[in-house]
Amino acid sequence: MTTRLIIDCDTGSDDAVAIMSAATHPELELVAVTTVNGNVPLANTTENSLRVLDHIGSTVPVYAGAPRPLVRPDFPVPRDVLNGDKPAFQVAYLDFPPSTTPVQQQNAVQFLIDSYLSDEFADTVLVAVGPLTNVALALAAEPRLAARIPRLVIMGGAIGWGNVTPAAEFNFWVDPEAAEAVLSAGLRDVTIFPLDATHSAPVSLADCAVFDGIGTRASRGSSSLIRHRIGNYPDAPDAAKLTAPVHDALCVAYLVHPEVITESGEYPVHVETRGEHTLGAMVVDDRPWSLEPRTARVVRRADAQIFVSFLADAFRS
Ligand code: RIB
Ligand code: CA
Repeated sequence: MTTRLIIDCDTGSDDAVAIMSAATHPELELVAVTTVNGNVPLANTTENSLRVLDHIGSTVPVYAGAPRPLVRPDFPVPRDVLNGDKPAFQVAYLDFPPSTTPVQQQNAVQFLIDSYLSDEFADTVLVAVGPLTNVALALAAEPRLAARIPRLVIMGGAIGWGNVTPAAEFNFWVDPEAAEAVLSAGLRDVTIFPLDATHSAPVSLADCAVFDGIGTRASRGSSSLIRHRIGNYPDAPDAAKLTAPVHDALCVAYLVHPEVITESGEYPVHVETRGEHTLGAMVVDDRPWSLEPRTARVVRRADAQIFVSFLADAFRS
């Protein structure tokens, strides 16, 4: 049973591992990659996606989407302020040869609209692992998509610590209005992997050694990216960290191994768009008496062993 998917991403290092695992795993068919402004500017997220696919010899098409958030001229604060003096954790260009494949001419938003209006994509899962600007624009331009996207898997949000502010995770923080619009659009099957889930299933240096031993371009490329993450994780609780979360790839693993989720619940979920201290925060209403519609499954914990074995299986293919 093959699962078809589109990955909407802001390629960065963990997006790249998600792309390579989706493009190589025998039970997945990566139909397209759509890119959005996020970790790095749109031109970079697009070039990085093209480089990664060229690197593994994949012909999966890449469509470029929104260069900035829905409402705000940039992020809630400009990227250079956000990155400040932190080492370039998400580098401008991933360390793969410059792309040789051109980006598609059609805008990613129109591609998403046209795709999900056609029956050919009736079973194609949308995996959104960057800011949700493209998905929100597509839903705003064509509301029928809410009933036609069969499943949406999102990397975003935090129940506990945020990674940009105490309350907000990066993808939701970059474009809070887009995240709230998508989560309020009435899609029928939404699963959210917040930081709590991705940090509960980290990848280790020992796992990277296994990937290196597999010896494929995807395995070695991913190992290098993950080693960079382990060595440069900006908020590592201790300097001797030997692991790092690979947020986006966990969303892909879930499509093949739903049992990777070890703790989750269905809840009403919103994203703060106005708070001075809470802008971009994911608000999960887990009050037992809440009468609001339960709009998403929120994953609290995942299994690192299942996640890593998924990656190894993908890279071996
Ligand atoms: O907060 C982590 C998320 O933000 C990941 O998707 C990472 O790639 C960045 O987009
Ligand atoms: Ca991402």
